[in-house]
Amino acid sequence: MDKKATITIEDQSYEYPVMVGTENEHAIDLRSLRKDTGHITFDEGYGNTGSCESEITFIDGEKGILRNRGYSIEELAEHSFFIETAYLIIYGELPTNDELSAFRLNIAHNANVHTRLENFMLGFPRRSSPMAVLSSMLNALGTYYPQMASNNRQQDLEYFDDAAAFLISKVRTLAAMIYRNQTGQPYIYPRNDLHYAGNFLHMMFSEPYHDYEDRSGLTNALDLFFMLHADHEQNCSTSTVRMVASSGANLFASISAGVCALWGPLHGGANTAVVRMLEEIYRTGDDGSKFIENAKNGKAKLMGFGHRVYKNYDPRAKIVGRVAEGIVQKMGIKDPLLDIAKNLEQAALNDDYFVERKLYPNVDFYSGIILKAAGIPVDMFTVMFAIGRMPGWIANWREIALNPASRIHRPRQIYTGSHLRPYVPIDQR
Ligand code: CMC
Repeated sequence: MDKKATITIEDQSYEYPVMVGTENEHAIDLRSLRKDTGHITFDEGYGNTGSCESEITFIDGEKGILRNRGYSIEELAEHSFFIETAYLIIYGELPTNDELSAFRLNIAHNANVHTRLENFMLGFPRRSSPMAVLSSMLNALGTYYPQMASNNRQQDLEYFDDAAAFLISKVRTLAAMIYRNQTGQPYIYPRNDLHYAGNFLHMMFSEPYHDYEDRSGLTNALDLFFMLHADHEQNCSTSTVRMVASSGANLFASISAGVCALWGPLHGGANTAVVRMLEEIYRTGDDGSKFIENAKNGKAKLMGFGHRVYKNYDPRAKIVGRVAEGIVQKMGIKDPLLDIAKNLEQAALNDDYFVERKLYPNVDFYSGIILKAAGIPVDMFTVMFAIGRMPGWIANWREIALNPASRIHRPRQIYTGSHLRPYVPIDQR
């Protein structure tokens, strides 16, 4: 029998259907609540609000489960690679050989960006935040492909396959250009023969007569890093992409907004904040214990710990931690920050404050170790997250665009300002 939920307001009761997801998650369908009762729900931060139905990603935060299109992140990490997982996330199925080749080719052949965008990049001050530049550049990219960024939903969908491949390809080129521009080096053009992560490292670190060589398996580690970030359900940036898309905005504009949401230190910016935190702890000579005390007293926040959804180990953090450890050993890296990170992790996992609140390391806690080992500067870390998250944003934009029942996202509020007041002329204030 279908379940119902009853809401009683004063002496009047209202019945609402209970929705059940594929994995047995339950929600009370309150879409007609305001019409029926004149009341709205209040859920600041949306901790209890389902904003959409989605077929893309499933997370069980209590059990530490993450699945993209039904495939567990552990299995994808073991057998798949970024571009294949990107295809899966966007189109819903693992690609056949032909589908994968076509997707790869479209990505490989569209890695260049228009030379006028190089001039645009030069207009930013040298010390600009890479995330500000990336967001602007991605929106600007849309202006070079007006047929794909028309804000005419039908037309944007007709060009979707190309737009998706362009964005996955060009975000990587733009990221490398941002780094080269910041460090005053000439841009290195992409090479079609290299795979996704290898081509990125090439554009970052090759020199005009000396191609980048990976002797430590960093290309694979980076590919895995991108894959682990590829989609993560209705997080802040993905919800932003969906919010912007719900107004009918094109893919480029929606994704540019997602980059801005990702930038914040509570979201994608946490990977930068973790390293800054570890550096600060090292600088002050603390082994981590003082910092833990400060975090418990509300004077500091243990960056890379805690998650809105995971109340168990973030499954991505386990994989990243293992890979980071392997890279450090293989490269013989002696990084005191890694020791501090391990101390912090152990101290937090055994401390009542963190245990009671179910605060575990999240994906950002150890991912910086891989990025640092690859030579990526700390202020580029969140850009790396953005490259990885591109398939998820694209898939979520597509889900909104293909849904005929999709409505503009427009929450309501509880107004707490003044009552109606008469206007006071300036000479009487
Ligand atoms: N350090 C110390 N205390 C914490 C932390 C932390 N990192 N995170 C949460 N708490 C405490 C918080 O103060 C609160 O305590 P109390 O119940 O006494 O008020 C309790 O734990 C619940 O926290 P919350 O703020 O209600 O949790 P939230 O769901 O609103 O926030 C979060 C989630 C990820 C923003 C938060 O845990 C945080 O700020 N973590 C550090 C930043 C970080 O690592 N972000 C990356 C998230 S994973 C990558 C991504 O997907 O973006």
